[in-house]
Amino acid sequence: MQHQTMSKKNNNHFATSTLLKAALSSVLLIAPTVSLPLFAKTFDQPADTVQWRPSELEGYSLALQKCTTCHSAHYAEYQPPTAGSGYWRAQVLRMKNVFKAPITDEQAQSVVDYLSQNYGSARK
Ligand code: HEC
Repeated sequence: MQHQTMSKKNNNHFATSTLLKAALSSVLLIAPTVSLPLFAKTFDQPADTVQWRPSELEGYSLALQKCTTCHSAHYAEYQPPTAGSGYWRAQVLRMKNVFKAPITDEQAQSVVDYLSQNYGSARK
């Protein structure tokens, strides 16, 4: 009889501590999920993650390859929308001649076409 009581006590103790552990671990599991929205912060992305405007033109993939090595599309976004191909040519050639952008004259022309049709006056 005495023995039975003891073992019942022990069982109860075991059950309680198991329950406590389960409760604790579920708190640990749930806590980060619950607290996430509380700690989530909003921020403006730095300008240098601006993507090039997608296009079918060859100049688009060239811009991705040749221009993004130094900077994102944010410089293109800040140019006047009235800019014609002469303006874009001057910019691209400046990138090539001054900053040594690794681009052939032919590729430069493709980029100029892409820029004026997607950022400049030739935009549809
Ligand atoms: C070797 C690095 C380098 C590469 C490659 C490069 N650029 Fe630049 N670009 C710069 C730097 C540095 C500046 C900012 C300084 C400046 O404008 O004089 C700049 C500025 C610009 C500007 C802004 C100019 C202004 O007057 O506001 C445009 C537009 C531009 N780049 C377009 C391009 C395009 C298009 C390509 C790809 C053909 C390209 N860049 C490739 C370094 C580069």
